[in-house]
Amino acid sequence: MWSTPSVGLRDESWWAAWCTKRVRRSSSLVLSFSAQNLVAFNFVAKSAIVLDSLSWSVLAVSDEWVRLVDLSWLLPNVSIPSLITNVAELIGTGHIVMDGTGAAANDEAYRQKWLWGAVAGLYHFGIKDPVYLDPAATSSWISNQIKVAPSPELYQTNEDYEKVIQLQIPCSRDELMATLLRRRSYRGFDSSAAIHIDDLAACLFAGLGITGFIISGPPGYGPLPLKPTPSGGGRNPYEAYVYLRKVDGIEPGIYHYSAIDHTLGLVGSELNYRIGDLLAGQTWFNDACALVVLVACFSRTMWKYPHPTGYRVVLLEAGHIAQNMLILAESRGLSAAPTCAVRDDLCSKVLNLDPYLQGVVYTVALGVRGSTPTIADPVIIEPNTRLGEVKSK
Ligand SMILES: Cc1cc2nc3c(=O)[nH]c(=O)nc-3n(C[C@H](O)[C@H](O)[C@H](O)COP(=O)(O)O)c2cc1C
Repeated sequence: MWSTPSVGLRDESWWAAWCTKRVRRSSSLVLSFSAQNLVAFNFVAKSAIVLDSLSWSVLAVSDEWVRLVDLSWLLPNVSIPSLITNVAELIGTGHIVMDGTGAAANDEAYRQKWLWGAVAGLYHFGIKDPVYLDPAATSSWISNQIKVAPSPELYQTNEDYEKVIQLQIPCSRDELMATLLRRRSYRGFDSSAAIHIDDLAACLFAGLGITGFIISGPPGYGPLPLKPTPSGGGRNPYEAYVYLRKVDGIEPGIYHYSAIDHTLGLVGSELNYRIGDLLAGQTWFNDACALVVLVACFSRTMWKYPHPTGYRVVLLEAGHIAQNMLILAESRGLSAAPTCAVRDDLCSKVLNLDPYLQGVVYTVALGVRGSTPTIADPVIIEPNTRLGEVKSK
């Protein structure tokens, strides 16, 4: 980081060093208005500043690496002390990076690796590590929302259409349908019970197991893995890690699931965090036996789809995988619940992820059903009486 002693205290060697340092505008900036201010948001560093005319000028001329001495030639009307102070501030906020620093290395990594640009980058990086509300704050937020405005309808009828066809409810004797109808998220895990390794294996396989390959396209294109879940372009961007607390037949630890071999590889034996810590303080997940963490490997999908809509493809696939796991969990009598409220920084550290190529998108907690529901479990569930008149086949 560039040090900023007051201008008067700087000696000749400091000035000599200052002159030769190179800076560049961060690659992850977007500009927007807030009231009458122009705001520059660095969506990777997650820092926003109001742009004054000097900052604007400095950012505008530092599109590529520029020595600080040249910056002073490029902006001849700016006094050197003002320029030093401004550059130091912009470096401090991450809006400018200085060659040779960690910030510059990160910026280069972003340039090289994140090929979906600012359209997807603003969302992907910008939503990481939000401030999650605890249950009390959530319920007071909801109470306030109810006062401010009624909730939008959560379903739509066909009452406005002239022609309406009543459909048969599928037969609940059908095994798959019965499993789907039984499935509910439940977080009241039995803290002392373990799930069996075969049940964990079945869930992982249902979501991610590679069962075959598509052979097509020019040499080098495939083979494209096929799984029980669909994947945009067959790119299969997900890897699963298991934060494994209590599973019969396997030591606790962090494991990587290899979808090609259907194996678990031990990443590390230390479980330094409770599952709820990884899940942004959701303590009701602490007693899960295992947390399956779905990590997107963006380059797999970027390779085929350079347009930022590829990011949507990646997000959608997590839902397919998790749903298959949840259904398998239900069919095996496990208790399960999904969540995407993760502490991104902690998960990234624990799993040693490359933040520009990988990201945790979704997780599924698996465990044994205990008798006490948690604060996050529904108290009352009512049947849909509108279905009552429809006869089952
Ligand atoms: C994308 C997504 C995110 C969710 N996040 C959370 C979460 O952060 N914490 C939690 O306890 N449950 C979470 N859930 C589970 C929902 O609360 C649950 O699905 C919903 O209440 C409906 O209940 P059901 O799963 O039994 O149908 C999430 C579900 C989805 C689909």
